[in-house]
Amino acid sequence: GVGVGVLSGLAYRVAAAGGAVLSLLFWLTNSWATHPYYYGGDLPYLFGFITLALAGHGDMLLARRLLLPSAEGPPATPVAVASPERRILLQTGLLATLSLIVASLAVPLRALGVRLDGPVSTGPAPEASAGDGPTSSPLGSAGGSPAPSTSGGGIKVATIAAVQQAGAAAFRIPFSAPPPLPAGDPGVVVELQDGSFVAFDAICTHAGCTVEWDAGDAILLCPCHSAAFDPAHDGAVISGPTSTPLSKLPIRVDTASGSIFLAG
Ligand code: FES
Repeated sequence: GVGVGVLSGLAYRVAAAGGAVLSLLFWLTNSWATHPYYYGGDLPYLFGFITLALAGHGDMLLARRLLLPSAEGPPATPVAVASPERRILLQTGLLATLSLIVASLAVPLRALGVRLDGPVSTGPAPEASAGDGPTSSPLGSAGGSPAPSTSGGGIKVATIAAVQQAGAAAFRIPFSAPPPLPAGDPGVVVELQDGSFVAFDAICTHAGCTVEWDAGDAILLCPCHSAAFDPAHDGAVISGPTSTPLSKLPIRVDTASGSIFLAG
């Protein structure tokens, strides 16, 4: 409703005030403990929405200019002009209806298997063939990383060289992975200072975003509310709105083949 309102201009100040309330609630719950405080993304949203709620759109909203008749047209007849109260009531009703329509789109999308947070493969991981290149993405989140390959030695998630080069490599645990491996989750394998390797389920323990490797600080950082995890201490929380460490994944490092495998 907030999004539809501030983008369309319907009940603009009401929608913006709703956005401010929502951001305040998020700030007081999700990102209250974020340090430094300005890393908490909800605070800038709060001030932004307060500004919009106070100032209104000032007739500068592009959508309104396109959709509503120009103010320079012939004057409307008195009967056609709704009172301000009636107009805001009508706009709020229209906004609520549009919001319900937008929200209900989730039902058919979900039925079609569409996920709005990134593509997810639904089949088993492809078999590796001799001479395959690295199967993991060297940096960043595991959302778009290629699927690991499966071979006789387990599920290959990265090459040692790729991890050593970037400090970490992201991968996705195939859906065919046996329990207790979290099938389908993004994962990340990190090289520690002593040259050993550790791997974690890259799902942030706060609200489920995918953590990313921060090479500068040698930590795993969540882009959503800035939770920071220490790979050198079993994924322990350094800071952020969660107190639960990342889940460690069992791995086997095969120096002979130069590969890192998930150990089932
Ligand atoms: Fe909120 Fe990661 S810190 S999802």
